[in-house]
Amino acid sequence: MWRQLKMAPKTVIPQDVNPISAELLKLNQYRSFEIYPYKTWRSIPSLSTAIYNICLSTSSVLTGVVSLAASIVIILPIGLVKSTLNPFIHFITWIRNRNNTTPPRRRCVVITGSNSGIGAALALEYAKTPNTHLVLIARDIPRLNLVADQARTLADKITTEVHSIDFLDYENSPNEIYSLLNKLDAEFHGIDVAIAAAGVSGHRSGVLLPPSESAEGHIPSLPASSSTTTLKNDGPSSIATLGSRILQVNVNVTQQFILHSFDLMRSRRRAFPSSSSYNPSIVILSSVASYFTPGNFIFYGATKTYLGILGRTLSLAGVEHGINVLPVTPGFIKSPMTRNMSILGCTVPLATMGDAERLARRVKKREESGERGSPVVWPVWQGLGLYGMRAGSPAFELWMWWGAAAIGMAGWSWS
Ligand SMILES: NC(=O)c1ccc[n+]([C@@H]2O[C@H](COP(=O)([O-])OP(=O)(O)OC[C@H]3O[C@@H](n4cnc5c(N)ncnc54)[C@H](OP(=O)(O)O)[C@@H]3O)[C@@H](O)[C@H]2O)c1
Repeated sequence: MWRQLKMAPKTVIPQDVNPISAELLKLNQYRSFEIYPYKTWRSIPSLSTAIYNICLSTSSVLTGVVSLAASIVIILPIGLVKSTLNPFIHFITWIRNRNNTTPPRRRCVVITGSNSGIGAALALEYAKTPNTHLVLIARDIPRLNLVADQARTLADKITTEVHSIDFLDYENSPNEIYSLLNKLDAEFHGIDVAIAAAGVSGHRSGVLLPPSESAEGHIPSLPASSSTTTLKNDGPSSIATLGSRILQVNVNVTQQFILHSFDLMRSRRRAFPSSSSYNPSIVILSSVASYFTPGNFIFYGATKTYLGILGRTLSLAGVEHGINVLPVTPGFIKSPMTRNMSILGCTVPLATMGDAERLARRVKKREESGERGSPVVWPVWQGLGLYGMRAGSPAFELWMWWGAAAIGMAGWSWS
């Protein structure tokens, strides 16, 4: 794998990263008909449930109409005025600052999950701005170094440091994240951009398998003190093992990274309230799975919904402190994660998936603009389609979730 990467200088994205085996897939597989929600007479919605669903759909339609009217009558004109005036405002700012001799601030950008896929693309995008220090976090050091080496060639005064932190190390990883963020905050007088991109689905060895059997054998098992051990862990196909591992990476440690960055940024802004050169941002990788999730994407969908809501609400909390919190909801993007899903039967054609590089460009542009109002969605057509599904009533939604699982949209195993 490492040799393959070296021979392909155009991309830092490896083909796949330890997909689970076909045998293991079988243990976790489901059959479409067996999980059909309205299979028995008992499970079919009764009249009262049907009426309740009609009321909920009516409520969605009314909310949609009001939201559409508000968007056309209020948000559209404001957006038009802003876009028209923006070039003049930029010009006036440039005139005012042209004699300013203060050297621009050296930016510190910290990215988790930055040795492959979207995280790596974001690292390379931020490396295009000179005078940036990139802090790259993931597990695999050779792939981290590969991204760091490429990043340093992209602009002047790009420096890098890499850190191998395993979020599945239940005992140590929260402290490692905490200490690293404290160190960076002190060294750079504030972290400028913190990007939470590390994430897993159940299509990768080491998420599903107990550590002793995993190709990524260094991953420690659940500690005795962990509350997750109260769940029954009965081997590789255990839904509890799978759930606790995905939760640990996508939520527990990721949240620690996000919230501690928020606290540090808030303290810095309090110490220098008038400082306009320190405009920190936090970028949170959620997913369109937070809008609509195939029924077998249990933990992935749940954790990404959590991150989506955390990002959108935290963006309100950040207003008071001058912290820009940007949630990102990608659709299917070509990366080792989706490559693993494809190997394991995901029926979404690779050709319809978006590019990590284009997503990264959009994220950086939006983060730097400081604009609030909606998450970054890419590819847009996937976001539009799946966002609309939020308007479905629960009975219809369950049926659609089953339908997406039945056609293997997220592969054929529980994740
Ligand atoms: N690709 C998509 O279609 C898509 C769509 C929506 C949202 N997203 C989200 O975007 C983010 C990036 O996804 P991707 O497609 O780029 O996936 P990816 O290529 O598989 O990258 C996942 C990253 O997370 C890191 N990671 C995984 N397990 C870890 C652990 N236990 N401890 C520390 N780091 C760990 C990996 O590092 P190591 O390889 O060193 O473990 C890698 O850098 C994820 O949060 C994902 O949920 C992806």
